[in-house]
Amino acid sequence: MRVLFVCLGNICRSPTAEGVFRAHLEQAGLASRVEVDSCGIGPWHVGKAPDARAREAAMQRGIDLSDLRARQLAVEDFERFDYVLAMDHDNLAAIEAQRPASSEAVVALFLGFAGWPERAVPDPYFGDEDGFEAVLDLVEAASRGLLADIASRLEDAP
Ligand code: 4NP
Repeated sequence: MRVLFVCLGNICRSPTAEGVFRAHLEQAGLASRVEVDSCGIGPWHVGKAPDARAREAAMQRGIDLSDLRARQLAVEDFERFDYVLAMDHDNLAAIEAQRPASSEAVVALFLGFAGWPERAVPDPYFGDEDGFEAVLDLVEAASRGLLADIASRLEDAP
């Protein structure tokens, strides 16, 4: 099973989701069965580590994002990943616009897995540190729901 988190720059929200969800998988003993990655819609930060504020906020919760490097969404991602999960509605629209008709990936807003079908993870880039805490809280909630969804799919197809 493969999960791809997508935001605009791939330096704040989606790397946070990648790190948090990977930690949830490790706690559940499923890390070897689920591959996790993240990417951005835009090209501006390709090759860069996550934003220092995102790294610091995640580290305070025991999650190290420092090895991650930004990349852009690519057409191959639609064949490789089972889930392509957007942080906001703009990301979702951009993903849908690039999605080949042949792709069978689940494309959705990530917070749908927290029971909030229309809610976005707000972009924290131009705000203060509080925005990064809010991202972590939302991402933690959705990660729990996504973990349950994937665990049930893995049980169905061991
Ligand atoms: P992200 O945040 O999409 O959560 O990584 C952003 C990072 C950079 C920019 C916008 C959002 N930017 O405009 O450079």
